[in-house]
Amino acid sequence: MKIGICSDHAGLDYKTRLIAYLLGKGHEVVNFGTDSPESCDYPDYAHPLAEAVRKGEVDAGIALCGTGNGMALTLNHHKGVRACLAWNTEIARLCKEHNDANVLVMPARFVSYRMAVMMVRTWMETKFAGGRHKRRIDKIDID
Ligand code: RB5
Repeated sequence: MKIGICSDHAGLDYKTRLIAYLLGKGHEVVNFGTDSPESCDYPDYAHPLAEAVRKGEVDAGIALCGTGNGMALTLNHHKGVRACLAWNTEIARLCKEHNDANVLVMPARFVSYRMAVMMVRTWMETKFAGGRHKRRIDKIDID
């Protein structure tokens, strides 16, 4: 898969390690930053990732900040982007199975790196269930 990834300073360490993990698994990775530990503003990185997902330039995205909320709030402003915040593997599974999340958002300050990797793996391996869940996600976007 071609995965877009972004973080702010709070998610930088996990982002760096996840890029290596994903490349090791044979995926293509597009890094939307930040690449500096200096304090920065999460929308500056979330918006470019969201546009890449929306336009189909990447197959899916991963975003990290301290709580995950700043990234999720920003990403979900983009039509067609379904950014879901997950903090354990069950939620990571359900956000794909039920919500067809095309961006996985994680709270880097509140989960271990090991948990982050397990969530990424679970989310990538899970298939969208469709059916009633398709009807529901079709009602999300408004013009
Ligand atoms: C940065 O301190 C923090 O506010 C940010 O990473 C994120 O948690 C915001 O939602």
